[in-house]
Amino acid sequence: MIEYKIRDAKKEDCAVIRELIQELADYEKMPDGPKVSVEDLEKDGFGEFPLFHAIVCEVNDAIVGYSMYFFIYSWAGKAIYIEDIIVRELYRGKGLGTALFQKVAKIAVSKSCQRLELSVLNWNTASRKFYESLGGVDLTESEGWNKYRFSGNALLDLAKESA
Ligand SMILES: CC(C)(COP(=O)(O)OP(=O)(O)OC[C@H]1O[C@@H](n2cnc3c(N)ncnc32)[C@H](O)[C@@H]1OP(=O)(O)O)[C@@H](O)C(=O)NCCC(=O)NCCS
Repeated sequence: MIEYKIRDAKKEDCAVIRELIQELADYEKMPDGPKVSVEDLEKDGFGEFPLFHAIVCEVNDAIVGYSMYFFIYSWAGKAIYIEDIIVRELYRGKGLGTALFQKVAKIAVSKSCQRLELSVLNWNTASRKFYESLGGVDLTESEGWNKYRFSGNALLDLAKESA
């Protein structure tokens, strides 16, 4: 059993968080890689109106994993969206990912959230199994959702049409 500590992320953690975001993007084979800088993370997560929250997992005072989440809202009420969860490769399979996930669940329940939501790439079967072992339901299978994004010219063109 490995000894670890989970705590809220601080502004000073953003450089390590940026490294972990890079590791996650590499793992997910994202062709263009992450766009956010350490400065963006500091400004967007630790300013007057934080756009995201994060928790980190430390082993011997070194950050070895993290999760980024934010609050979302729907007709079902409050929920948390888990944007990122990653444990450094050397530390995987030791219960740290489960501990990070449980901590986000605890935060969700303490804030009266009804749900945790996240997206996972279809081929990432190890993580899909991980979520399913924790009780997650695959909505693509059960409800048939498709995920849409508007970016680049599609977004700019739409914005141009607005009064
Ligand atoms: C998914 C992840 C966060 C889980 O963290 P973890 O610390 O490895 O998880 P735990 O040790 O708590 O193990 C939980 C289960 O996940 C499984 N698992 C999932 N992905 C794994 C991986 N890449 N390596 C080792 N175990 C993995 C373990 O086998 C374990 O199952 P078991 O209890 O039946 O043995 C971590 O494996 C990871 O960072 N993966 C790469 C990044 C990623 O895919 N993130 C999610 C993007 S949506």
